[in-house]
Amino acid sequence: MCSHNNSYKNIFEANKKWIDKKLAEDPDFFNNLAKNQTPEFLYIGCSDSRVHANEIMGLEPGEVFVHRNIANMVVNADLNVLSVINYAVIHLKVKYIVICGHYDCGGVKAAMESRDLGILNPWLRNVRDVYRLHEKELDTITDVGERYNRLVEINVYEQCLNVIKTAEVQKSYLETGYPLVSGLVFDLKKGTLIDLNIDFDKELNRVRKIYDLTKGQ
Ligand code: CO
Repeated sequence: MCSHNNSYKNIFEANKKWIDKKLAEDPDFFNNLAKNQTPEFLYIGCSDSRVHANEIMGLEPGEVFVHRNIANMVVNADLNVLSVINYAVIHLKVKYIVICGHYDCGGVKAAMESRDLGILNPWLRNVRDVYRLHEKELDTITDVGERYNRLVEINVYEQCLNVIKTAEVQKSYLETGYPLVSGLVFDLKKGTLIDLNIDFDKELNRVRKIYDLTKGQ
């Protein structure tokens, strides 16, 4: 006896309907989808189930390469995210890398709690490090909710810098003018995608003073 409940079974029904809808719009949709992927975007976002890369950016399957983890982190020793960036830049030749955080992020909030969170401790430590780097500004915000949301924005900014610190991004940008790195925040309450307007050239120059990896190999 299959013990799966209705929510599980429903995904296959929904899949059939989705196929019918796509074929009605374009009979060649799956033929084209199976050929290759040529996305212009790499999206690095939070695993939060409410923030869906394709949907919030209005992109179809094949148009965005996606990496998600708790609190949209780009961690220096995380082979997972570094492999995704490498593949996206070197092989897919994406034009844009977007780091997308979101207000009311449970990961960012958890990172600021005085609590042992087990295996999550080392991961969320990276968010605490971002707080420490921007402690002065964050401590001036008295409203706790507003402080978390500002930390969400600052965390996105720091993760953009972490992307810019990679050799792949530095070399590709100097050779081809791509990829451009930008930071976004999704506002769950309004559905808005907010551009943090990070000045890529300025940040790249600043990063390269210390993290220049453009020579060799
Ligand atoms: Co989140």
